[in-house]
Amino acid sequence: MATNRTFTMIKPEAVANGTTGKITDMIIEGGFKIKAMKLKQLSKEEAGEFYAVHKERPFYGELVDYMSSGPIVAMILEKDNAVADFRALIGATDPAEAAEGTIRKKYATSKAENAVHGSDSDENAEIESNFHFDAEEVVG
Ligand code: CMP
Repeated sequence: MATNRTFTMIKPEAVANGTTGKITDMIIEGGFKIKAMKLKQLSKEEAGEFYAVHKERPFYGELVDYMSSGPIVAMILEKDNAVADFRALIGATDPAEAAEGTIRKKYATSKAENAVHGSDSDENAEIESNFHFDAEEVVG
């Protein structure tokens, strides 16, 4: 996959709160092109595997329960400098520390329930995209 792509999930509380459209608008207005998109319910096993890097962290169990608590919207996004630009658009992990105008500042409810995920590197963007999408589900 090209390095001008990143992966995101709109997380369960944001989908449940009805902010999927507003968050998607911010993503598009931020200059990102949607290359793949799906609404998906993660099992506990899938959520645990996706976040396996955090297995040893004290919040891992809570994170897995939360991410499998309701549907998420997974997307592959394209833009120059996608990974860094998307992390700037979503803001800090903790909404209390997120900059004004960022997605998490507007829509996250807590550090755990923080509205959106964004890949932290080109390598992880590819791994995370492949976790959720087959090649034929990606446009262009
Ligand atoms: P995300 O960017 O998806 O990557 C890991 C997730 O773990 C993070 O967003 C939060 O949802 C969650 N997380 C990170 N730190 C904490 C924390 N201190 N307590 C609870 N959840 C956390």
